[in-house]
Amino acid sequence: MTPRGIEVLKKISCNAVGLDSEYTLATGELKSRTYLDSTASTLRLQVVDDVLQHYLPHYSNTHSLLHFGAKLSTHEYAWVHDMVLEFVGADPEAYTAFFVGQGTTASINRVAATLREKRPDRDMVVTSIMEHHSNDLPHRKHFPEVVHVPARMAKTSIGMVHLERLQEALDTHGERVNYVAITGVSNVTGIINPIHEIAEMAHAVGALVVVDGAAMAAHQPIKLSGHDNPARNIDVLCFSGHKVYAPGSPGVVVTLKDLFADIEPQVVGGGMVENVYLNRHTTLEKFPDREEAGTPNICGAIGLGASLYALNQVGMDTLAKEEARTIQYALDRLSEIPNIIIYGETDGSLCKRAGALAFNLRDIEHGLTAAALNDYFGVAVRNECFCAHPYVREMITEVLAEEEDGLTDEELEMMADLHRGMVRASFGIYSTEKDVDTLAEALRHIANNRDYYIENYTRLDSGDYIHKTFQFDHSQLFSVRGAVDEWLEQ
Ligand code: ALA
Repeated sequence: MTPRGIEVLKKISCNAVGLDSEYTLATGELKSRTYLDSTASTLRLQVVDDVLQHYLPHYSNTHSLLHFGAKLSTHEYAWVHDMVLEFVGADPEAYTAFFVGQGTTASINRVAATLREKRPDRDMVVTSIMEHHSNDLPHRKHFPEVVHVPARMAKTSIGMVHLERLQEALDTHGERVNYVAITGVSNVTGIINPIHEIAEMAHAVGALVVVDGAAMAAHQPIKLSGHDNPARNIDVLCFSGHKVYAPGSPGVVVTLKDLFADIEPQVVGGGMVENVYLNRHTTLEKFPDREEAGTPNICGAIGLGASLYALNQVGMDTLAKEEARTIQYALDRLSEIPNIIIYGETDGSLCKRAGALAFNLRDIEHGLTAAALNDYFGVAVRNECFCAHPYVREMITEVLAEEEDGLTDEELEMMADLHRGMVRASFGIYSTEKDVDTLAEALRHIANNRDYYIENYTRLDSGDYIHKTFQFDHSQLFSVRGAVDEWLEQ
C-alpha cells in the first residue's frame, strides 16, 4: 500500500456526487442518505464530474476530424480505450477494448452473437446458475444449448460456482463448448469466483472464457493477460462504467482481437467502414473502430476513463484490501442481529466476497425490510432477485432447508415463499463502517419491532410495500421540467 495510494483513496472516496443527499423520512427527520446500492449503480466520483465539466466546453463528435474540438475529443476518446486495457491488465498488442450501448448487457449480447458466428462448430455455452440474466439470456438467444453449472451448497463454500460440476460439464461436452461464461463476482452475494482456474479448465478443452465483470471491476484487481501459465489468461471481459463510479458510461468489451477479426461486425453503420458502394462495402480491419459503428457515447467514455485513471492512482490491490475490511465488518455486525439469515459463509477467510452481501430477516418479507430501511432510516438498498432468479431461488431454498432441519417440505416451501427475494447491501469506495453501523442499527430496530412496521405498510399484489401515511413526493426535489423552468427564470 503506497502512501500516495492511501492519500488518493481518502481524497476520492469522500467526494462522490450525491453521497450526502438529504431526504425527509417517515419520522419527519431530514437525513443524509446511507447509500448501500452500489452494485446496482455506483455514485459518480466528484473527480469524474469535474473532469467532465472540463471536457464539455470542447465536446465534439469524434467522427469529425479537423477542428480543434474534434481533434481533442478523438485523442481523448482513443486514450480511454488504452486506459481500459491498462486497468484490466490486458496486453494492447493482443487485446482491444470497445464500447457498446447500455451497460454490460449490451456487451455480453455482442460477445455471444460474435462468438457464435466466429466458432460455428462449437454450438454450446457453459455458464453457471450464479449469473445475472445478462450473462445467461444472450447465450440462450444465440446458442441452441446452454448448460448451467450449479453453485456449491456445502456450508463454507455455499454460493460459489461448483468447480467439479463445471469440470464434468466440460468433460461431457468438450469440443462443443464455445465458451464458459462466468461472473467474476456474484451481483447477489458478492462471492468471488476463481476465474483463472476456470480459464485453465475451459482452455483445456479448447473453449474460451468470457468473464462478466459487472460486479467485479470496481472492487477487484483484474489481470487478463501475462500469467506465467497462459492458459490462465482471460479471453473476454465485459463490464460497465455505471458500476465503476462513472454513471452515463457505455458498456465495455475487452477481448482478444483475433476473436472479433475476419468476420462482419454485428453492428454496422458509419465509422466502421472503409468504403461504401451501392451494392457492397468494405469493413475496417482496425480495432476498436470496426466494433464501434455510429457516434459513440463520448462523454460517458471520458467519465469512465477519468474514473479508471483515478482508481489506478489508488491501486486496485489497495482498494480491494480496504473494501474487504468493510465487508467483513458488515458481516460481523449483521451477524449480531436477531433472526437474520446472511446468504453465504460469513467468515471472510473461508469465503472471499467483494462489493455486496445479501440477507433476509427471518419473518419479515424482503420488500418490507427494504421499504422500512429507506423510509425510516434513509438506508438505500436493493431487494428482490437482482436479475439473478435461479441463484436467489437456489440459495434461499438451500439455506432454509439447512437451517430448518425438521420442517416438512410444505413448511419449507411456505418459508421459501416468504423470502422469494433477498435484501442486498452493496458497497463502494465511499462506504464506511459508519454506514454499516447505520444499517445494522436499523435492521435491529426492524427485527425487534416487526409488528409496528407490518401495521404501517400495505402489501401490494406485486409484493411491494407502500407506507400507509407517509408519501415521498420526488417532484419536490427534482424534475427535468422543473429544473429547466428554474434555469429559465434565472
Ligand atoms: N445488475 C444490477 C444489480 O445487480 C442492476 O443490481
